[in-house]
Amino acid sequence: MSSDSPMAKPLPPDLEAIDLSKRFGSVVALDRVSLHLKPASFHALLGENGAGKSTLVKCVMGFYQPTSGKVCVGKKARAIANPAAAHKLGIGMVYQHFTSVSAMTVAENLVLSRFDSPLLIDWRKETEQLEAFMAAAPFPLPLDRSVSELAAGEKQKLEILKQLYLQSRILILDEPTSVLTPDEADEVLGLLREEVINRKLSVLMISHKFREVTAFADRVTILRKGKLAGHGSLKDLSVADMGAMMLGEVRTVQSIRKTKLENPATVLELRGLGANKDNGLPAIEDINLTIARGEIVGIAGVSGNGQKELVEVLSGQRSLVTGRVCVNGKPYRSTRKAMTEHQVYVLPEEPLYNACVPHMSVAENLALRTFDRPPQSKRGFLFLNVIRRMAQTLIEAFAIRTPSTQTPVRNLSGGNIQRTVLARELSSETIQLSIASNPCFGLDFAAAAYIRGQILAARNRGVAILLVSEDLDELLALCDRLLVMSEGKLVYESAIGDADLATIGRRMAGH
Ligand SMILES: Nc1ncnc2c1ncn2[C@@H]1O[C@H](COP(=O)(O)OP(=O)(O)OP(=O)(O)O)[C@@H](O)[C@H]1O
Ligand SMILES: [Mg+2]
Repeated sequence: MSSDSPMAKPLPPDLEAIDLSKRFGSVVALDRVSLHLKPASFHALLGENGAGKSTLVKCVMGFYQPTSGKVCVGKKARAIANPAAAHKLGIGMVYQHFTSVSAMTVAENLVLSRFDSPLLIDWRKETEQLEAFMAAAPFPLPLDRSVSELAAGEKQKLEILKQLYLQSRILILDEPTSVLTPDEADEVLGLLREEVINRKLSVLMISHKFREVTAFADRVTILRKGKLAGHGSLKDLSVADMGAMMLGEVRTVQSIRKTKLENPATVLELRGLGANKDNGLPAIEDINLTIARGEIVGIAGVSGNGQKELVEVLSGQRSLVTGRVCVNGKPYRSTRKAMTEHQVYVLPEEPLYNACVPHMSVAENLALRTFDRPPQSKRGFLFLNVIRRMAQTLIEAFAIRTPSTQTPVRNLSGGNIQRTVLARELSSETIQLSIASNPCFGLDFAAAAYIRGQILAARNRGVAILLVSEDLDELLALCDRLLVMSEGKLVYESAIGDADLATIGRRMAGH
């Protein structure tokens, strides 16, 4: 890595948002917020779900036009009309979801990402340039590899490399590590931190993980309900200080103790289950598993090892190739009718796309499981007032931040979309089996603690719960039994009291 020399590039530009406000109709998402990203610093942006973090960075990127206030780059006020304009000023953003084209190679994706991609690409010249770029990159990837063959961590690296390739000097990351394992996250953030120390880059990172913020950031800005709640140097702020600024008050989460049922009946039984990936290759093989009433069985594993396909089979979105599923001792096919009959509820990954109708309202999305039954409807008539009233109750119980029951669900913040689906899938009184995949993904710490409490409370009511999670701490805190999935197979099983972390780690890594 080149060090400072008289020939070194100038520092990344200074970036300042001054008194930025953004309204969406009646919602004030940002209320006169200022943030100063100094050249070559690593700055964290913290706040509860719906605090306005994504809105702030989207104003900087030109996705949104602020209602008032200004954005200065290099100490000059700039009107940033769109993301291309932000790129011209050296600002690039990495999104939570991948944006690469999976059927193409790493090289093709990099060239495609250029806004000025010429119609005719001189591949020989491009290849030479790409090879030189990769040789100097903080984390090289094989240029000729197809993106579909990259692991989640590598795909995230590609998203960051794209921004470096576009010569972004200011990198904005919106929850960049939610798809990474803790080791991958440390690797990627550590390498970015080196770029910052070498004064090549400024980083502005939205994160809910205090561990990452304290390990990698120099400075922090904290938002609360659209307003600036505090800012400062990590040297002067403890995790407790930052938590208090985020919440504005001390909220105690009551811890829920596990209770035990005597001789619980088996609710879910999987025998020899096998299913394929989209490309026809095996995704899961010979899965055997039972879950009893009042039991949480956890599946740990690195994402992409068949967990997603297993959840899809159980939620009726993927067909099985071998084996069978029984619920309450009866053969079970995951149709909407059977799910209602047996009171099976599912929280899939990416709930906005897999469990919501994005353009429909919060109330309609909350009613998706129940709208065709009394009291929400009778003989084909929908009772909209009942649907709205029930929605209002759930919005309050799960503290969903939404302007109204009629707001399209896609307009909610990431964490509030997650809460909407959780409210629908965890609130039924008669629920018997719940299948949850990364239920606290993207939730702030207070919301995550709340949801984990709801899961434990459901367990204590006798619900059988399959909890698929990439967060080992979450699994250790909630489960009664822990399994590890690797390459589509269950490769470890233990009662939680006997779980051996070293072995779990090795099994997760495929050893
Ligand atoms: N396009 C939009 N239309 C209407 N309201 C919106 C829109 N985008 C965001 N909002 C509202 O603005 C507020 C702030 O949302 P934002 O996405 O910035 O939150 P966030 O801090 O990123 O939260 P999270 O941690 O959940 O991602 C929320 O109340 C949200 O409902
Ligand atoms: Mg957000």
